[in-house]
Amino acid sequence: MEKWSSSRVFIIATIGSAVGLGNIWRFSAIAGLNGGGAYLLPFILAVIFLAFPLMVVEMAVGRHLEKDVVSSFRSLRERYAWVGWFIFLVMVMITGVYLVITGWTLAFLVSSTGAMDLSFPDLTAGYLPVLFFLVTLAITSLIVSKGVRSGIERMSNALVPLTFVILAILLVYSVQTTGFMQGLEYLFTPDFSKMSEAGLWTAAFGQAFFSLSVGYGLIITYSSYMGKDVNITRSAIAVCIADVSVAIIAGTIIFAVVFTNGLEPTVGAELAFVTLPAAFDGMLLGELLAFLFFALLFTAALTSSVSMMEVNVASVMNNLSLDRVRSSLLVGGLVTVVGMAAALSYSALDLRIMGERVLDILDHAFGTVGILLAALLTALMFSWYVDRQFLEDEISCGCRRFVLPLVKYIVPVVLATVLLFTLLPI
Ligand code: PHE
Repeated sequence: MEKWSSSRVFIIATIGSAVGLGNIWRFSAIAGLNGGGAYLLPFILAVIFLAFPLMVVEMAVGRHLEKDVVSSFRSLRERYAWVGWFIFLVMVMITGVYLVITGWTLAFLVSSTGAMDLSFPDLTAGYLPVLFFLVTLAITSLIVSKGVRSGIERMSNALVPLTFVILAILLVYSVQTTGFMQGLEYLFTPDFSKMSEAGLWTAAFGQAFFSLSVGYGLIITYSSYMGKDVNITRSAIAVCIADVSVAIIAGTIIFAVVFTNGLEPTVGAELAFVTLPAAFDGMLLGELLAFLFFALLFTAALTSSVSMMEVNVASVMNNLSLDRVRSSLLVGGLVTVVGMAAALSYSALDLRIMGERVLDILDHAFGTVGILLAALLTALMFSWYVDRQFLEDEISCGCRRFVLPLVKYIVPVVLATVLLFTLLPI
């Protein structure tokens, strides 16, 4: 079985998976919708007490079993393999949606070089979303088909540092904008009156799992390529700190631009694709700024897309006994069907089911509900049905006294509650 070439690479690749559209596009959109600072505290609490402990357990399980997600569930009990296939299904759906949005970022990146002049309505008025989806899918499948070392590792080594460099440049730029202080204040002033709203907490909890790629079999899969020399707790802390920092820095940059231009922070998903491109136009070095911003989104999204696809390719390879190239083609084919429907719903065809855009339906059904269920099952199964001894051996520091009970009792209860709130129209 292929392994990462060093423990450093494991951390870089996992940061590459964690840092993605979730940190840059989704975090600021949700923060904006929930009154900025009100949202930060629940998010950070969720990272520390829910997502981090489950990440540590997933790392321990992945390294100990050295298996893909389907085989990992199967090794608990033969009859639990369906949980792994359920996660497989959720990941196919999510990857389809994620690649469509990654395609949008590529379209804006190309547009920012001056090759075409694009606004979001222009993009969705034709069939460019389909074209850019297919291009990103092809790039993603190609990287995954090259394998752990020559594909994922090489890409992560090149793109993860680049993502951080671009982020640093944009942060320096944002400091001199007139809206910088106002943006900071918006993001960091907790609004305690909002904290009694259940919706705020569920949004923050879902976002913590999504942003850290915890609960989807990703950490299990990447950790199965990890050597015995890696310190699991330290790696998980590094990934959490990197991920949360990127979300906060990206939020700082985005809200600085929003307030400098007197715009609305509360527009939600449109923030990065409608509000910001319009704002960049009128700013100092606006074209360069747009280029850097979309390069940041695209590189971050690509390393996450690759990781999503790897979860499924590893499962197909081991459970259907196909080689890596054939598995990548099979998973790529499944993702094409889903992604096409999602891409077409934001195109001239305006594909809808019962009045709703397919992408939005999939995002809600799988991106919100399916993913919470996947994380809930992962937490339950790997704390109640495993031999506790191996978890204790893998997590060699004293923090297991904190991590293991949280994953066994608190994480499932919280996730089940969040799931109920999401499903019931309360
Ligand atoms: N964490 C990624 C992001 O923030 C998304 C992701 C989720 C990637 C699950 C892999 C697995 O965009």
